[in-house]
Amino acid sequence: MKLVISKSYEEGARRVASHIAAAVQKRKDLLLGLATGSTPVPVYRCLAEGNARGEIDFSEARVVNLDEYVGLAKDHPNSYHRFMRENLLDAVGIPDSRFTIPRGDAPLEEELARLNAFAAQNPIDLQLLGVGANGHIGFNEPDTIFPDGYHAVTLAQGTIQDNARFFDNPESVPTMAITMGIGTIMRAGEIILLASGENKREAMRALLEEGDVTPAVPVTALKLHGNCTIYLDEALAKDIAVAPYITVE
Ligand code: GLP
Repeated sequence: MKLVISKSYEEGARRVASHIAAAVQKRKDLLLGLATGSTPVPVYRCLAEGNARGEIDFSEARVVNLDEYVGLAKDHPNSYHRFMRENLLDAVGIPDSRFTIPRGDAPLEEELARLNAFAAQNPIDLQLLGVGANGHIGFNEPDTIFPDGYHAVTLAQGTIQDNARFFDNPESVPTMAITMGIGTIMRAGEIILLASGENKREAMRALLEEGDVTPAVPVTALKLHGNCTIYLDEALAKDIAVAPYITVE
């Protein structure tokens, strides 16, 4: 595992965008795994700007997303499908034919079968992750096993509260989601995680300090990945006693 510490969150986001851009330039048809949440928004802005300047070519790139709320159709204002369209995909010209994301309003079992068939045939080249305050990645909440393939989950109460800021009222936050499982995330050829903010400190401690991989903090699974880079800003990294086996840049 590698840790890159930037002066600010904005600088870290720019570095993550450069990292992704380099991978896309190297392999035009790569399968890019992407995430939602507010953390990656400036990364997507940098990628869209780079594309507008003609520096990054997304004409063959494929995208797969981690998760979606159960019950939300793709054009719902709070769907992750719409989030990805508005924050990146429309700007860089990636059509739905090159974009895979769970369909929140599809019959659940059929949808899981569709996604698992896709996952079996399409290994992710580079996966971008954020992290929940409780250490979840995708919507793999604490204290569940680390399942392979896509699965339906009941969201933790804290996650519902954290994500309520995006909804008109807290009652309309869905309580269930479909998420890519940790086994599938871990099979990505490379993983990048970007985190910022005080509320991510405990999760980053569990990941970067010495200690076991534990379902209590799902992000700790990344300790076992052979090609994983964590991007933090100085404010978040400052009190973390980074384990000696992690390369710090
Ligand atoms: C949601 C998403 C995660 C994301 C997390 C953190 O729960 N399912 O993929 O990492 O939010 O979001 P934020 O970046 O807004 O803190």
